[in-house]
Amino acid sequence: MPRTLFVTTALPYANGSFHIGHIMEYIQADIWVRAMRMAGHTVHFVGADDTHGAPIMLKAEAEGITPQQLVARIAAERPQYLQGFHIAFDHWHSTDSPENVELSQDIYRKLRAANLIETREIEQFFDPVKGMFLPDRYIKGECPKCHAKDQYGDSCEVCGAVYAPTDLIDPYSTLTKARPVLKKSDHFFFKLSDPRCVEFLQGWTTGENGQGAKRLQAEVLAKTREWLGNGDEQANLGDWDISRDAPYFGIEIPDAPGKYFYVWLDAPIGYLASLKAYCAKINLDFDALIDPESETEQVHFIGKDIVYFHALFWPATLKFSGRKVPDQLNVHGFITVSGEKMSKSRGTGISPLRYLELGMNAEWMRYYIAAKLNARVEDIDFNPDDFVARVNSDLVGKYVNIASRAANFISKYFEGALGYPGDAAKLSERWQAAANAIQADIEAREFGRAIREIMAHADQINQAFDAAQPWLIAKTLAQADAAQRDALQHICSSALAGFKALSVMLAPILPALSERVATELFGLNRSFVWSDAGVLPTRINAFKHLMQRVEPTMLDALFDSPAPEEAPALVPGGEPIADIITIDDFVKIDLRVARIVNCEHVEGSTKLLRLTLDVGEGRHRNVFSGIKSAYEPSQLIGRLTALVANLAPRKMKFGVSEGMVLAASHADDKTDTGIYLLDPASGAQPGMRIR
Ligand code: 2FM
Ligand code: ZN
Repeated sequence: MPRTLFVTTALPYANGSFHIGHIMEYIQADIWVRAMRMAGHTVHFVGADDTHGAPIMLKAEAEGITPQQLVARIAAERPQYLQGFHIAFDHWHSTDSPENVELSQDIYRKLRAANLIETREIEQFFDPVKGMFLPDRYIKGECPKCHAKDQYGDSCEVCGAVYAPTDLIDPYSTLTKARPVLKKSDHFFFKLSDPRCVEFLQGWTTGENGQGAKRLQAEVLAKTREWLGNGDEQANLGDWDISRDAPYFGIEIPDAPGKYFYVWLDAPIGYLASLKAYCAKINLDFDALIDPESETEQVHFIGKDIVYFHALFWPATLKFSGRKVPDQLNVHGFITVSGEKMSKSRGTGISPLRYLELGMNAEWMRYYIAAKLNARVEDIDFNPDDFVARVNSDLVGKYVNIASRAANFISKYFEGALGYPGDAAKLSERWQAAANAIQADIEAREFGRAIREIMAHADQINQAFDAAQPWLIAKTLAQADAAQRDALQHICSSALAGFKALSVMLAPILPALSERVATELFGLNRSFVWSDAGVLPTRINAFKHLMQRVEPTMLDALFDSPAPEEAPALVPGGEPIADIITIDDFVKIDLRVARIVNCEHVEGSTKLLRLTLDVGEGRHRNVFSGIKSAYEPSQLIGRLTALVANLAPRKMKFGVSEGMVLAASHADDKTDTGIYLLDPASGAQPGMRIR
């Protein structure tokens, strides 16, 4: 039975570029969506930028632009990532859109009509200089427990204590350093503690999707049980504060001047807004898709950090505004890089854009991430050595290799015609059954298991090919009889039938490669669907090279320099000026005049030069600098430059770097030749302090 699905990924905040965590989620969802489409289901797969809230408003202000300009700049960079990694959203929208305003206000009115909105006066920290209420993250002060200074408003990073911002000793606003004052204001609350909500959520969280599978993964269900109580216990749900006071970048609350929806109210509604805009574009009936009685399955892919919003607030919001509720939440863990945790704003050591700019194949990343993912809420790790091994030994060495070995014999001796032994029907059944099992794995989001099975099939195909030693037959083909000739054709054809089936199984993961296999090698005029796996091919076209191996040096280049925080700002005149620091902050940086006594290339690095520096210390320092694109070593020897002399030594692949030389460039774009090493005027001596 063909199904209709409405699939989303979490909407990324529009104040920064995608990091590898976003890309991982999109790859997971994209693989799943493609697998569903290959089964003949209709999928509407949409995303959008999450644009509202205080951080975006303040960041835009710091850059001297409007929030809309900031959001537009970030939106403009999205396609290069999405296309680059073959992530095929049908539509990408924005929560700062007419559709979202209309839907959010309508949903609010319905909740209010259902008696689920309440106004309450609350007291909150207010920055008297800035004239705004302060979210917790903009308040710091001394920990009330261990007295550590400069701790955030909600918890202490030193002793781990959790408290309210009002418990801080000597609190200050991180925006202005002013001491915040307590101020009262009316806020709107969604009454989640209402028995109707609790009862609904107890049913929804434990329920099933339209396919008879659990709506929530076991770990996620367990979490919601803590929040909701087990039925016998009392639910622990607080009401949800959904309003913020001006100034705020958000959607106005109807009939409440100066009040805006908290960003988390309108963010998930952005899923619907994006679907609505998409429906308008392709002439689909949006209301029918999201009608409470609709058979459309609504599936959200999200990270484990935002379960609370998606398993409680979001379904309740939909239910009590008379709408269809989600059918399934697919929750994933975080991605670490070489075991290091990622920061939500800065990402990890891997910049997805840099990955693409280095010419690394997006399908290597899709394959590697798929190999690591399963249906549980587990973190996964990107390990460079493991990446190289899996791509080169498994993907290229096992899978691609089959075609390159078998296809040449078929082209050379049989003009591309394939032929099978008498029991070809069995071969066809075998491959269709294998593909069906993989289809089920992918639908269950057991991608790692699917890839292990696919590679086991690849091993079997290679072993059978090796055991039959077709190259020996080929060598003496001129003298061979018809039976030997047939044997050669059968061996190679069976391998190619297997290769075709594996290509079908890998199609959701490697969409570009599998499409080339379908069209170029097997002459189809479309990409693969699941039922192609058991159709034995009858001929092939000449084999064309399919996939390069990863060069380990590419990974060095990927990690050579820290990932840029985000793509260069496109503001006129270059990069925005950083946040204000004090003179005390500045003198912490010990800048010295240094003489470059030697300079050489670094073998295996495309970016670095190795500098030997005299800083007047009676010894030499070794410093690596990413200026290779701009200078020949001989140009630099003997010159003076400026060095950050008290930077913590950094262990790099090529040795320890003891400081950093200063150079001017545009934003983070060090790939062109626009890098200019700083020169003190002549007369300066190595070791002099720069202040
Ligand atoms: O955590 C985040 O990055 C949010 N921007 C996710 C929002 S998901 C949905 F609700 F929009
Ligand atoms: Zn503390």
